[in-house]
Amino acid sequence: MTTELYFGIIAVLFSVVFAKQDIPPFLHVCHRQDPELNQCFIAAGEEIRPYLVKGVPEYNIPSLEPLIMDQLISEDLSGIHIEAKDVKAWGCSKYFVRNNSVDVENQKYQLDVYLPELQIEAYYTVDGKLLLMPVKGEGPMKANITHVVTKVKLEGETFESNGERFLKYTSMVMKVTVGGGHVLFSNLFSGDKLLNDVINLTINNNFDAFLKELLPVIEKSLSAVFLDISNKIVNKFTFDQLFPM
Ligand SMILES: *[C@@H]1O[C@H](CO)[C@@H](O)[C@H](O)[C@H]1NC(C)=O
Ligand SMILES: *[C@@H]1O[C@H](CO)[C@@H](O)[C@H](O)[C@H]1NC(C)=O
Ligand SMILES: *[C@@H]1O[C@H](CO)[C@@H](O)[C@H](O)[C@H]1NC(C)=O
Repeated sequence: MTTELYFGIIAVLFSVVFAKQDIPPFLHVCHRQDPELNQCFIAAGEEIRPYLVKGVPEYNIPSLEPLIMDQLISEDLSGIHIEAKDVKAWGCSKYFVRNNSVDVENQKYQLDVYLPELQIEAYYTVDGKLLLMPVKGEGPMKANITHVVTKVKLEGETFESNGERFLKYTSMVMKVTVGGGHVLFSNLFSGDKLLNDVINLTINNNFDAFLKELLPVIEKSLSAVFLDISNKIVNKFTFDQLFPM
C-alpha cells in the first residue's frame, strides 16, 4: 500500500467519524433563548415544506408527496383481519402547525398539525366480518379524508459522542381525528360488483365507525414514519448547531 493511499484511507475514516456538516438551507435554526421560540418553529415548518415535497436524497429525507409507507399495516379488528400495503398518501405537505409548544432543554414538543385533505391509495386484504357482513377480498383501495387534526407529542434526548452533544428523538405519539371521508374498495368478493357496491356504501354510511377502528393502526404507522424522518433531519448535526444559544 502506498503511503498516499494509506493517508487517503485514514482521511476518509476521519471524515466519516468526525464530519459534522454545515446547517443546510432547509433547516431554519431556532435559538434556545428565542422568546418567540414557538413562532420560530412555525417559521421552520414553513421553510422546510418545499424540501419535504421533493425530498432531500443527500440527507435520506424522503419526499412527502406522496408519503410512502413501506411497512405492512396489519390489524385484527373485532372479527376481521385487515392488511394494507403499498400505502401512498398525498396531501401531507399541506400541513398547518398550530398550538405548538417546545421545551428545548427537555426536548419535549407538543403540536397540532392540521391537514385539509389526504388522498390515500393502498392494496388491501380483508377477511372476516365487517359491520356484521362477511367480507373477503383483496385489491386496490382509495380513500379521501378531510379535516385531519393530529395532536403530536414528540420527545427526544441528547447524548455525547466524540465530545459533541447530539440529539435523538426517542418517541412520537400521534392522536388523529378526522372530519370526514370517503373510501372505495375495488375487487371485494373477487369482482362481484353488486356486493362490492353494497360494501362500499355500507362502509361510507358508517365511515366514522369504520375509521375509528382503523385509526390506532394508522397512528402507529404514521408515528413510526415521522419519528424516522425527524431523526434523519437532525442526526447529522450537533445540538448546538440545531439550537444555538
Ligand atoms: C388550537 O388552536 C386552534 C386555533 O388557534 C383553537 O381553535 C384550538 O382550540 C386549539 N386547540 C388546543 C387543544 O389548544
Ligand atoms: C377523492 O377526491 C378526488 C378529487 O376531489 C376525486 O377525484 C376522487 O374520486 C376521490 N376519491 C374517493 C375515493 O372518494
Ligand atoms: C365501490 O368501489 C368500486 C371500485 O372502486 C366502484 O367500482 C364502485 O362504483 C363503488 N361503489 C359505490 C356504491 O361506491
